[in-house]
Amino acid sequence: MLRKLLIGTALATSFAFSAHAADVKEVQMLHWWTSGGEAAALNVLKQDLAKEGYAWKDVPVAGGGGDAAMTALKAMVAAGNYPTASQMLGYTVLDYAAAGVMGDLTETAKKEGWDKSVPAALQKFSVYDGKWVAAPVNVHSVNWLWINKAVMDKIGGTEPKTFDDFIALLDKAKAAGVTPLALGGQNWQEATMFDSVVLSTGGPEFYKKAMNDLDEESLKSDTMKKSFDNLAKLVKYVDPNFSGRDWNLATAMVIKGDALVQVMGDWAKGEFHAAKKTPGTDFLCYRFPGTDGSVIYNSDMFGMFNVPDDRKAAQIALATATLSKSFQSAFNVVKGSVPARTDVPDTDFDACGKKGIADLKKANDGGTLFGSLAQGYGAPPAVANAYKDVVSKFVHGQIKTSDEAVTELVKAIDDAK
Ligand code: BGC
Repeated sequence: MLRKLLIGTALATSFAFSAHAADVKEVQMLHWWTSGGEAAALNVLKQDLAKEGYAWKDVPVAGGGGDAAMTALKAMVAAGNYPTASQMLGYTVLDYAAAGVMGDLTETAKKEGWDKSVPAALQKFSVYDGKWVAAPVNVHSVNWLWINKAVMDKIGGTEPKTFDDFIALLDKAKAAGVTPLALGGQNWQEATMFDSVVLSTGGPEFYKKAMNDLDEESLKSDTMKKSFDNLAKLVKYVDPNFSGRDWNLATAMVIKGDALVQVMGDWAKGEFHAAKKTPGTDFLCYRFPGTDGSVIYNSDMFGMFNVPDDRKAAQIALATATLSKSFQSAFNVVKGSVPARTDVPDTDFDACGKKGIADLKKANDGGTLFGSLAQGYGAPPAVANAYKDVVSKFVHGQIKTSDEAVTELVKAIDDAK
């Protein structure tokens, strides 16, 4: 449907702009980076491009996880109004590429040696049909705990190594009168947390089979039921006002010490960074209990559209700046993510960032690097949306048992395929 819709507009647009005037020194960027930490990270890019004489035309669409942004982008593209680039996650890049609306950065990629410096796991999504169509900005990882250190000290907590340890830790916070778990009750946040729960419950092989291969036996297995049961256990520790809360407000609860812990991708660390908090002193970053050694990743990519000729120079400048080593360090230090290149030193990163870089390398080498289903790297958007919907209905009590949850999950994923 999206494809048919887009192919028509692609042709119309390329005819409309076949003549070109002088280069337009402006980058138009659609994104969902509207929290404090995200905006600070984006500023690094704006400033780099300003130094090269490019103006910044911001198209922000608030909403963590990017669902609202992707709806806005679809409308823009259908109207033949392509931004220079848009923030996108994995399978969305491939969808737009298949629709024939993406540009071709292969020449720049060759000149800059991207095929040697960008990990193969990312190239699967930034290269389509042999052509570079997107510039990877970072690698985020979702299987993290973010903990307030003062609260942890107060309750005498230590790093939870297993799911049961985690429950015992949450109990301690509860007994001390602190909200144990900061969660935003939006489907993408719940599903992002559930990615980690599945990995912890079933282990790496199970995660891959269920969440990347969409193997039906795994999706309806007792292990998946147990994963939902474990999710139900966690949800008991959230405060009554969690429904609809934005992810960065949940992070703020931990930063302020109103809650012990948030389970969230490392964009949460961008909020700690913006609040001038230091790992080890103010907060702690641990892998989600039972997932150490594996990394569930997503990567923000700047999908590059097939813009008119007079906007191509700006697009190349954006892509080149994005994949420069200095930007990859400076941006990711602020964003909470790690570089999308394997040759960027970890010198400027804090302890959590250094761990993130080392973990990614280990997981990549050891075959335990997996795409996040909630974050667009496990399956195409329709399947990911079906997954988020089922997880959220379970969290909010519309699906009542784990038996029912796995049945609904299999059905929803089947319908979406
Ligand atoms: C993106 C992050 C972003 C987060 C919250 C994720 O989908 O990959 O860059 O910070 O959503 O908005």
